[in-house]
Amino acid sequence: MIVTVQQHILQDQKRFPGASGEFSWLLSGITLATKMVQARVRRAGLSDILGDAGDINVQGEVQQKLDVYANEALMHCLSARTSIGVLASEENEKPVIMGHRSKEANYAVVFDPLDGSSNIDVNVSVGTTFSIMRRPEGVGCDEPEKWLLQPGSKQIAAGYVCYGSSTILVYSVGNGVHGFTLDPSVGAYLLSHPNIRMPQQGKYYSVNEAYRDGFPPGYNEFIDRLRLGALGQRYASRYIGSMVADFHRTLLKGGVFLYPPTAEHPKGKLRMLYEANPIAYLVEQAGGVATDGRRRVLDLQPTAIHQRTPLIMGSTVEMAEFQRCVPHENSL
Ligand code: AHG
Ligand code: MN
Ligand code: MN
Repeated sequence: MIVTVQQHILQDQKRFPGASGEFSWLLSGITLATKMVQARVRRAGLSDILGDAGDINVQGEVQQKLDVYANEALMHCLSARTSIGVLASEENEKPVIMGHRSKEANYAVVFDPLDGSSNIDVNVSVGTTFSIMRRPEGVGCDEPEKWLLQPGSKQIAAGYVCYGSSTILVYSVGNGVHGFTLDPSVGAYLLSHPNIRMPQQGKYYSVNEAYRDGFPPGYNEFIDRLRLGALGQRYASRYIGSMVADFHRTLLKGGVFLYPPTAEHPKGKLRMLYEANPIAYLVEQAGGVATDGRRRVLDLQPTAIHQRTPLIMGSTVEMAEFQRCVPHENSL
């Protein structure tokens, strides 16, 4: 049976008697924007050839960089959704308060419009990540930080789109993780990966090993133990440098992904609100584990919108070994 993402969301919302449909309308803003982004991504290498007339806008500006385009596509599509009160993006320094200030504006959406954007020039997969939170009780539209600075455990939905050999949308609303592949001939995301469960153990570790001299104690021991067979097999490595694509492989095939603290980024490089939190939410929904090297990612209290965090996530077997090598505050 063919199930579109829209059908799937509407079906899922039946869990909540009285659901108004506004949440599925909100998510349709994300699916529309990501279809626009994927259309642009697919033509990325052609912009020099086809880029003249069609790609110069009325102000005479030349074609925008793809991450700016992706940001504007998401901002535009989501701004028509009156259920959203606050938007925040990697590409905007400050959160955007939606103009309508309507009473039903109950959600905040944060996103990384184009993740791995340096990979665009060399034809490698990129992605979009998003996270949705509810407006905290009694908080008005003039305090957008309070909507956004909630621990990841408060997310009510999260997901990503990976623009790879095909375009796939993976999301969760707290009821398992589901994947939808875009059928370009009809322009619809169709359910292709229902109820994704992460394997308990995989074959790969995924980390930028060039930075290993700057990792904190225990990290290199962990990687060496995987390499040398301490978990019953010798691991191989895979590292794309697009978090979404590295995560998508880890979700489907198991294994572990690490972006540890490094000499250049002592607090890690990835952003808590729109990179680590949605990924950690999906990992846990799929039966895996995500930490910052000390604590569960979803328990971290953010203090700034663009705050960074280390992120180590993966299958239960590798993550148990990681916690033996790098002791955590609580065992997870
Ligand atoms: P973005 O393109 O949104 O700035 O994110 C890039 C990130 C992430 O996708 C990836 O995991 C990481 O940068 C790779 O960083 P290194 O090149 O330091 O390994
Ligand atoms: Mn990113
Ligand atoms: Mn980005």
